[in-house]
Amino acid sequence: MNELEAKIKIDELSAELNQHNYNYYVLDSPKISDFEFDTLLETLIQLEKQYPQLISPLSPSQRVGGQITKTFQSVKHKYPMLSLSNSYSTDDLLEFNRKVFEGLGFQNNTQTTYSVEYVCELKYDGLSIGLTYINGNLSKAVTRGDGVQGDDVTTNVKTIKSIPLTLTESYPPEFEIRGEIFLPLKEFYRINKERDDIGDAPLANPRNAASGTLKMQDSKQVAQRNLDCFLYSVLGENLPSKNHFESLEYAKKMGFKVSNHAKLCSNINEVINFITYWDKQRFELPFEIDGIVIKVNNYAQQQTLGFTAKSPRWAIAYKFKAEQVCTKLNTITYQVGRTGAITPVANLEPIQLAGTLVKRASLHNADFIEKLDIRLNDFVYVEKGGEIIPKIVGVDVDKRTQNNIPLTYVTHCPECNSILQRKENEAQHYCLNENFCGPQIKGKIEHFVSRKAMNIDSLGSETIEQLFSNGIVKNIADLYDIKKESLLTLERFADKSAQNLIDGIKQSLTIPFERVLFAIGIRHVGETTAKKIAKKVLSIERLCQMNKEDLIEIDEVGEIIADSIIAFLKNSENLKIIERLKVAGLQFELSESEQIVGSSLLQGLTIVISGVFSKHSRDELKTMIEQNGGKNSSSISRKTSYLLAGENVGPEKLKKAQALNVKIISEDDFLTQLLRNNINI
Ligand code: IVH
Repeated sequence: MNELEAKIKIDELSAELNQHNYNYYVLDSPKISDFEFDTLLETLIQLEKQYPQLISPLSPSQRVGGQITKTFQSVKHKYPMLSLSNSYSTDDLLEFNRKVFEGLGFQNNTQTTYSVEYVCELKYDGLSIGLTYINGNLSKAVTRGDGVQGDDVTTNVKTIKSIPLTLTESYPPEFEIRGEIFLPLKEFYRINKERDDIGDAPLANPRNAASGTLKMQDSKQVAQRNLDCFLYSVLGENLPSKNHFESLEYAKKMGFKVSNHAKLCSNINEVINFITYWDKQRFELPFEIDGIVIKVNNYAQQQTLGFTAKSPRWAIAYKFKAEQVCTKLNTITYQVGRTGAITPVANLEPIQLAGTLVKRASLHNADFIEKLDIRLNDFVYVEKGGEIIPKIVGVDVDKRTQNNIPLTYVTHCPECNSILQRKENEAQHYCLNENFCGPQIKGKIEHFVSRKAMNIDSLGSETIEQLFSNGIVKNIADLYDIKKESLLTLERFADKSAQNLIDGIKQSLTIPFERVLFAIGIRHVGETTAKKIAKKVLSIERLCQMNKEDLIEIDEVGEIIADSIIAFLKNSENLKIIERLKVAGLQFELSESEQIVGSSLLQGLTIVISGVFSKHSRDELKTMIEQNGGKNSSSISRKTSYLLAGENVGPEKLKKAQALNVKIISEDDFLTQLLRNNINI
């Protein structure tokens, strides 16, 4: 392929990928599988690697991130980014309506000849962003800042898949479109689960999480957070729309993600009905909203009404009141998390709130209890935000009697009775008896066997509980000493299930060092950090010899992680466990070929991957193929050497491979082949 042909192919692939991104992230209606999408993207990335001079900064390949922004440049807004005044009641809305009529010179607003249409939109709880497009290309993304100037966060915004990098439909030569960047609730919970897993403090709420994410220096990390963005306002000269509702339709046509929940209302009563509906319905949305925004639809009327110094007179925000109930706090119990963090939990007199029966609420930590001066038998106010667990927001002090006993915070672990500690600058108390405290041991085992760690999927949390309570497994090293006979003495275990578990554990011996390092559960060391450390230090021996300064040199390792690694490797119990795992045969160093990186074992072979794999992700398998000289391809042809087939392999692919006599290999065959040749996996 010459450069011209490469350019044509790159353009074609980019257009195709942009369309699929649009189908998936804007229309929520994908037309191809994730695997097919990944294969197209991979083809584009490979071509761009071959012809780096053809990489456009707006190529779909740039969405995966990787660029670092050291400092975000301050940029002046072309149009000031104003705020909205707030309203909290029907009376406030009627007053807003009266002022709009007055401002438009409609003194007697009962006459039907005078009419004002309003557009009601959801008020997304995120952070506002202004996107400038020049000749259909995204040129700048700027945060609100102080309204006059904000930060240029273009590199990070480019990772948000629902934001088009280039426009294809007709568009004005230059315009700005504004909207709200937010973190979908599913992502918020996923991130917090992952953080909890490695002992990092949870992100407080989706809004803070979104604004923190957008200010991250490494755009690759931003890409992994899966932010999203709704657009709600188009600004520029000579735009075609005459009113706001039309402009939303226009933005939709240009390819932007515009909510389908906006409603055109012919009077303030319809506005009030819209608000009443969403006040209840908001909990069903997959993202958080904190109110409704009401805008005068007609642009001429907007212009007549104008602005105050801070906000437009033609729009107002209605803020929802959080639904609140008052109930009795009966007792407080303390939960021990998998990282030893202690969480006080309020056991409440059961009460109905926003459609669910609430019995418990988190009290977070000792500071929270102290700040609200919460006492036993108090009547407390409980609210439900977007988060699943309801929160206590205050105490009804008027209902207090002598029975309300001030709390003394727990001093010893409720599970293992060791003294709790609270580190400087940390809100949480911790049980430090990590190797002998039940919930912590079980948490460590759950983490160790999880999919991204040792991937022993025959070992679920119920079985872990069973093995632990029967004294068969007291730490992760014990897993490798399990005998089939002892499993057969347990309830629910038969010959087959016992053998499956033994086989699953044995298979985990091939898991590479970087994942073993993640699996052993060093606090704050996540999957990516473990990878970076493994690549740098090559073996656990070398990691044990490193001091804090050496560790901080490693990409992604800061002081907190370095301290945590050192503390972990100083602990004699941990060292004993590592020693036993080594004896059991786990990988505690990178294989020689991994250290060299790559081989030519697969030179000249074209491999098609299809299906779901258990030991490695498709991306990992693809990288292995490339690193060992092979070629990835998305479709089967006479030139295909192998079909690497996982579970649920595409039936069409399978049929074609059989028809063309293409060899079909399993993930295990493939890995064994590479392993036998001592090759990088
Ligand atoms: S319109 C002149 N529409 O709410 C300001 N804002 O409290 C025009 N917001 O700064 C803003 N959803 O960040 C508008 N559908 C929506 C919105 C929305 C959320 C945010 C926005 C704004 C803040 C004002």
